Amino acid sequence: MAKSDDEIGKKEGGRMQMKAIICPRYGPPEVLAIRDVEKPIPQDNEVLVGIRATTVVPADIRIRGFRVPPSFWVPARLALGLTRPKKPVLGTEFAGVIEAIGKDVRGFKAGMHVFGLTGHELGCYAEYRCVPEDGLIARKPINLSFEEAAAIPMGGLTAWSFLMKGRVSSGQRVLVYGASGSIGTYAVQLAKHLGAEVTGVCSTANQNMVRSLGADRVIDYTKEDFSKDGRVYDIIFDTVGKSSLRKDMRSLRAGGCLLQAVAPPATNLRMRWAAITTGNKLVGGTMAATPGDLVFLKELAEARRIRPVIDRSYAMERIVDAHRYVDQGHKKGNVVITVGHDQAPPAEKTFLPSLRTSSPTRRG
Ligand SMILES: NC(=O)c1ccc[n+]([C@@H]2O[C@H](COP(=O)([O-])OP(=O)(O)OC[C@H]3O[C@@H](n4cnc5c(N)ncnc54)[C@H](OP(=O)(O)O)[C@@H]3O)[C@@H](O)[C@H]2O)c1
Repeated sequence: MAKSDDEIGKKEGGRMQMKAIICPRYGPPEVLAIRDVEKPIPQDNEVLVGIRATTVVPADIRIRGFRVPPSFWVPARLALGLTRPKKPVLGTEFAGVIEAIGKDVRGFKAGMHVFGLTGHELGCYAEYRCVPEDGLIARKPINLSFEEAAAIPMGGLTAWSFLMKGRVSSGQRVLVYGASGSIGTYAVQLAKHLGAEVTGVCSTANQNMVRSLGADRVIDYTKEDFSKDGRVYDIIFDTVGKSSLRKDMRSLRAGGCLLQAVAPPATNLRMRWAAITTGNKLVGGTMAATPGDLVFLKELAEARRIRPVIDRSYAMERIVDAHRYVDQGHKKGNVVITVGHDQAPPAEKTFLPSLRTSSPTRRG
């Protein structure tokens, strides 16, 4: 049954309002504040999601603090906003309940529990967000909470996208550098799912966690240099941009592949040169994901082949603390923000299976 306006939001001056965390200017975590803003209305091809959980990812931190390499300053200001963020509501990942749908939407219904990624479009630090039906949105894994589901899309899709670019396959030796971060924790699990032999690199405190995700070997980067033990790898995946190209190339077998999730312009140039001089494949750039990939991750989560690692969870009102914590650069897996609504989320009704299917890419 459709909800009345009073049930799903407050009206102010005739316009529906909702709570959102806004970033009115670039700066430290303290610039973030909760405000009443206009509640969005879904277009014909959109669903309106009542967000129950979102996350803090490095992109939120980077935009809020305008942390970009000096050579990127001008293009980044043009893209993100000259004097303040063009999109003041940050947040890239969401999980929640569909409250309403546009008239052309066919694959989703009000009441469905969903999760997804808005990526550069942001806007998930809010009680409501409209998402196009053909965007990165899928039914939530039935065995996961909203908090757990919200922690999958960015890390999971990025890890999967890079592993696919590297054509990781069964029996290959894969080294995941930064194995305890969001992308890293999914990279370890997904590479194992593909049948690879996985070595994870992280600090002392995260050794057991990374091993529990299925890593065959774990190297403590505070005590050991992975590039000095004589082992070579088919794939090296630097998920945090903290390894060095020199070390990576030393430990890559001839014809191997380096996957680099963080490659500022200078690193990109050096990678191009290294690819020419060594004949190895070096992959940087941004992840590319399809809605089918998200469905695939949902299915893996339901089959318990992957699980999100949640480091900390903060209520929306504590967004400043959450940003302060992620600012330190050592979160384990994911940091979640719970978005309070007046009422607990309704249990999901039984719907026919979604028409949306997982992508027909290599599944190992
Ligand atoms: N290319 C793309 O399309 C794409 C997409 C999404 C994200 N990204 C970028 O990818 C990066 C990683 O994202 P994320 O969410 O996975 O990051 P994250 O979760 O914030 O990474 C935190 C992890 O980094 C590890 N770490 C910190 N310093 C390290 C070091 N010197 N050596 C090894 N590990 C270290 C920490 O482990 P310890 O505490 O053990 O040190 C911590 O667990 C970010 O810069 C993000 O912007 C790129």
